[in-house]
Amino acid sequence: MTLFEDQFAGRHAPSVPPKRSQGGAHAYFSAWNLHAYYGESYIVQGVSFDVREGEILALLGRNGAGKTSTLRAIARAGDPQLRRGEIWLDHAPIHEMESYQAARSGIQLVPEDRRIIPGLTVEENLQLAQIAGPHGWSLDRIYDHFPRLAERAKQDAVTMSGGEQQMLAVARALARDVKLLLLDEPYEGLAPVIVQEIERILVNVKELGITTVIVEQNAVAALHLADRAVILDMGEVVFDGTAQEVLDNEELRQNYLAI
Ligand SMILES: Nc1ncnc2c1ncn2[C@@H]1O[C@H](COP(=O)(O)OP(=O)(O)OP(=O)(O)O)[C@@H](O)[C@H]1O
Ligand SMILES: [Mg+2]
Repeated sequence: MTLFEDQFAGRHAPSVPPKRSQGGAHAYFSAWNLHAYYGESYIVQGVSFDVREGEILALLGRNGAGKTSTLRAIARAGDPQLRRGEIWLDHAPIHEMESYQAARSGIQLVPEDRRIIPGLTVEENLQLAQIAGPHGWSLDRIYDHFPRLAERAKQDAVTMSGGEQQMLAVARALARDVKLLLLDEPYEGLAPVIVQEIERILVNVKELGITTVIVEQNAVAALHLADRAVILDMGEVVFDGTAQEVLDNEELRQNYLAI
């Protein structure tokens, strides 16, 4: 078996090798030249970026810049429709997949509304994620890392606070063996002290080696957490660099982030 065959054994064999922009062919996650549409409405206009394994990338930009659309295109959600471009995660060609296949390949999108299932307890929400597979963390491991969820295991999940629901949304992704965690506005509607608690969880998730893309209106908080940042404007990438470069660049912050 050649090194190349060994590398792809048991995974989806790529139809073509990744071309790649900046990161070379070996980026862990790579979105390359994504073009996505809602009907005829052209929204994601040639977005490219890489994420290295274990890194946190902040995907930022004004309201309507295309952040949610980009995350949805990557997760292969039905809308927006990806018409051009390639998405590679750990050598798997996500752009050739349906959303359920992308999820099985390790892409977990936690949308803004968190999609907690009403009428189910915290534990049942987690079990449902495990049934969907691929099997990730055990309940015991989740409860070790999220003691708050252990306390509330038997509670109807939608009656939990916003912060607790966000914890459950992240835990549910871990229950499914996540390789790339896509978080859309995880701090939205949360008090600062709860934001800090979620931040600690995300630092912990990073220490476990999980790769994350975080979209946040609270750009300062996201930049303090992130290693790198990509800024979108009108569906295009206008900046790709380190989080610190954005924090240090007042013009960039004023022009695209209003901070
Ligand atoms: N289902 C849809 N049908 C048509 N256009 C849409 C749809 N969803 C979003 N759009 C449009 O796509 C553009 C990008 O929206 P998107 O939600 O991706 O922005 P965003 O950067 O996430 O903004 P926000 O910070 O407000 O969440 C906007 O102009 C929006 O009106
Ligand atoms: Mg959005």
